[in-house]
Amino acid sequence: MLSVIYAILFYVAAAILIVGVAMKIRKYARSPAPLKIPTTPAPTTQTGVVLRMAREVVFFESLFKSNKWIWLFGWTFHMGMWLVLIRHLRYFTEPVWGWVVFAQPYGTYAGFAMLFGLLGLWARRVLVERIRYISNPSDHLMLALLVAIVGSGLMMRFVGNPDIIMVKAYMLGLMRLQIGALPATPVLLVHLGAVATLMIIFPISKLMHAPGVFFSPTRNQIDNPREKRHLAPWAAELEK
Ligand code: HEM
Repeated sequence: MLSVIYAILFYVAAAILIVGVAMKIRKYARSPAPLKIPTTPAPTTQTGVVLRMAREVVFFESLFKSNKWIWLFGWTFHMGMWLVLIRHLRYFTEPVWGWVVFAQPYGTYAGFAMLFGLLGLWARRVLVERIRYISNPSDHLMLALLVAIVGSGLMMRFVGNPDIIMVKAYMLGLMRLQIGALPATPVLLVHLGAVATLMIIFPISKLMHAPGVFFSPTRNQIDNPREKRHLAPWAAELEK
């Protein structure tokens, strides 16, 4: 029974995540960018913009320049998350890819890096007066949800393991549209329930900054207003 409920939950969550994110990206891609507004100093070539975006995504460059504390917590959280997600690929692949096997031992500790980052970011929302003032309930709830995912994950890893062979068989089954047996370990059910919740709210949450950063005009525009006139496609239509 539980296995079926979680299967339905994951199918619904996956559909909402994929369709929701695709619709938002379509909206971002179609939004007008009428003005030339790269944050200067900005690259003057396309290659330069690609490199700038890469530095932004990998190192969080502009955040580093503006606030070292937020950078430390934010960057640690995100890099830890990448390792943890890479580590999780073993539940969805058979045979497991070599580089995923290689990342396993590092991924284990990355969970703590995530927790450190999340608690730091949360402390900032509570302790820094001006940030507390602009924090919405949803800001706190997103952090709480992520802490619940990471906390339950670490509990499984270091306190009591669920039958992870069974978890893997269940996940591989779902990918082939077969519903197997899910171990009824409470902390696993909390972990998976929180992950499905995250998938469902992702497209309507501020977590959309992940695809959103690539559409930010201040980051993705080339600083060449004199060499090339900036004309949005819809504005070009008006000139015809
Ligand atoms: C359907 C998707 C997921 C499944 C089936 C799953 C399952 C598991 C299992 C079984 C463990 C225990 C690992 C062990 O004992 O060796 C674990 C740990 C963990 N999970 Fe997940 N998880 C999922 C998604 C996520 C997501 C999306 C995140 C975070 C964004 C996450 C964060 C963690 C963390 C931080 C740990 C502890 C560190 C580690 O063992 O890597 N999980 N997960």
